[in-house]
Amino acid sequence: MRISVIGCGYLGAVHAGCMADLGHQVIGVDTDAAKVDALNAGNAPFFEPGMPKLLADGLASGRLKFTTDVAAAAGCKVHFIAVGTPQKKGENGADLRFVDAAVESLLPVLRPGDVVVGKSTVPVGTASRLTAMIHEVAPETALVWNPEFLREGFAVADTLAPDRLVYGIAAGGEPAAAVLDGVYSSALDADTPRIMTDYATSELVKVAANAFLATKISFINAMAEVCEVAGADVSQLADAIGHDPRIGRRFLNAGLGFGGGCLPKDIRAFMARAGELGADQALTFLREVDSINMRRRARTVDLAREVCGGSLLGKRIAVLGLAFKPDSDDVRDSPALSVAAQLQLQGASVIASDPKAVANSAKRFPELVFAYTVEEAVQDADAIMVLTEWDEYRNLDPHHVAGFVATPVVVDGRNCLDPLKWRSAGWTYRALGRP
Ligand code: UGA
Repeated sequence: MRISVIGCGYLGAVHAGCMADLGHQVIGVDTDAAKVDALNAGNAPFFEPGMPKLLADGLASGRLKFTTDVAAAAGCKVHFIAVGTPQKKGENGADLRFVDAAVESLLPVLRPGDVVVGKSTVPVGTASRLTAMIHEVAPETALVWNPEFLREGFAVADTLAPDRLVYGIAAGGEPAAAVLDGVYSSALDADTPRIMTDYATSELVKVAANAFLATKISFINAMAEVCEVAGADVSQLADAIGHDPRIGRRFLNAGLGFGGGCLPKDIRAFMARAGELGADQALTFLREVDSINMRRRARTVDLAREVCGGSLLGKRIAVLGLAFKPDSDDVRDSPALSVAAQLQLQGASVIASDPKAVANSAKRFPELVFAYTVEEAVQDADAIMVLTEWDEYRNLDPHHVAGFVATPVVVDGRNCLDPLKWRSAGWTYRALGRP
């Protein structure tokens, strides 16, 4: 099938590559010429496992191309909208200007029978509004809302083999859904559940899923706060409650909390939209989820101050991990980068490192000093802080690291180190939610 993907950021570039991998003929469209050139040269503008091969294979097969010219989408049967919906500046709501511009730019190329498929995360009500916009000029083009649930770090696998497909359709939208079935035939042949529903439900499924995940993380971080004052161990608590299949152990890792380009902005946009609809009370708990999450960052800075003897002034602190999670170079709303910056602003001298996210961090906080190896980062450190649980940090040998630091003090911001191992190697080990 001939497919266009409008917007080639994280979601769009991965989606375009995966659609080509499935055998479709794909044109990716983005307004950023530098991004388009990089993608056409086989270079993903972000780190994602599997992405270089996906791009190389797609480009070599001739099935995958990128352009800045939306006219190239003419003749495609399916047009995916995959642009970003960032948080509005100074407000909680989502900024829909890129979604609106993407749909508007497509209008001249739409032909009867084409299907526009929305993948961006949008406030409930958007799909109906966009359908009205499309039908003004292209009454025989249908819109299907098809939210995406990919996780960074697993984006390729999540797109090729999703755990579910959700189609939001308008009345009479079944033929458009059948076209989309053609796009996803391999996943459907593998018995992937497909939920067919209305626009509003499909839009809400996406934000409800992210709100649930954020709540699960803040729940365990709230337990960590109680564990800290009670002298209990939140990791053991999570293991113990996680054995109950109704609760489950996944997404119960206490620590520095959630960040990234999705969870934080999505729960805020969800609250804003519920407020507009008169249901703000239903989501006031998400305000608490957000503030528990932000408190973890402040607590981590406090812990650093504590282990440095009450003041950060002039202390040399090695920060290991800057990305919002491992296997990613993404530092959007990264708890790790936010703590590193706070430590620096409060007078510490921070040397920060990350296997993939140094370049992106340097763009946001050029005043931090960066190191490319653990050894370089921890040299003469008064304390080291592990803030993203990369395997390379999980597996650090405390005896080896002790040879470089000024004082053997480690703060484990992700509960990813073995306290026994570090303590028995002579380290002072501190963590969030653990004695
Ligand atoms: C999230 C969702 O998990 C995806 O399903 C969704 O498609 C995506 O947002 C999106 O809306 O596009 P992602 O942002 O890649 O995916 O990251 P997650 O794996 O959800 O992690 C989010 C944050 O939570 C990270 O900072 C991570 O360190 C933190 N986290 C995760 C915890 O603090 N504890 C946990 O137990 C799990």
